[in-house]
Amino acid sequence: MQVFYDKNSFADYITSQKQLNKTIGLAPTMGALHAGHISLYAEARKENDVVISSIFVNPTQFNNPEDLEKYPRTVEDDIKKLEDSNLVDAVYVPRVEDIYPNGMDRKHYDFGGIENEMEGAARPGHFDGVGTVVEELFLQVQPDNAYFGEKDFQQLKIIEKLVEGLDLNIKIHGVKIHREENGLAMSSRNMRLSKIEKETSALIYKTLKKVNDWFRVISVPEIKTRVEEIFDNEEMDLEYFMIAEESTLKEVDFFSADDDFRAFIVVNVGNVRLIDNLHLD
Ligand code: PAF
Repeated sequence: MQVFYDKNSFADYITSQKQLNKTIGLAPTMGALHAGHISLYAEARKENDVVISSIFVNPTQFNNPEDLEKYPRTVEDDIKKLEDSNLVDAVYVPRVEDIYPNGMDRKHYDFGGIENEMEGAARPGHFDGVGTVVEELFLQVQPDNAYFGEKDFQQLKIIEKLVEGLDLNIKIHGVKIHREENGLAMSSRNMRLSKIEKETSALIYKTLKKVNDWFRVISVPEIKTRVEEIFDNEEMDLEYFMIAEESTLKEVDFFSADDDFRAFIVVNVGNVRLIDNLHLD
């Protein structure tokens, strides 16, 4: 596995792979890698000649400077995990100036309105920051395929819109949420939970599964009330729960006959913000 710490040496590598007509699969990350990330590379390995990981903590997608500061930076460990996985050919760890040569500005995107829903409403500017870094990484890596976890389902939809809007020839793949044994969705933030908090956070996925049982059995407002009641009695703060149409991510208050729906939840456990979602069927 090769590791590149600057744009120029990485560009030479990409040029050589392109000259050999190799297909490239990319899964971008911000590091603090866990089994969920590794599952992205397992998917990428199945359908690409070359699998690339990028590790870059992107300042422009943080709307809270404290969050950016606290974000775990574990590059050496991450590289070791990638090496041990035997799934990755090259890792790109760019410097800030490799991604933002003209200063740390976010581009502004129109993603058809989905950028204003849920996480977009809760974290202003977040998706412009994600779009900016992913557009730049796509330009530098020139992947044929790119892989994103469904845990950040809204981000996945945003990336699909980004590729469509820029008319890039990159196939975007959503990869199923990887969960801890107790159902908690894997996330780099989980390492900030205490053992007890990790155990109690199992309630998030348990609740989503209950929501799935209630799907088309009781009304959307009744489901919302029940979810709020579940978290009322807990040492966790339910930031939002909603059911949305999968295509528009607009919240719904009833289930129409032929749309696809997904439940979305954000819960704060101590000072750790956990997000999860489940397709309803
Ligand atoms: O999902 C992430 O880790 C980040 O948002 C991404 C896609 C790597 C962009 O910084």
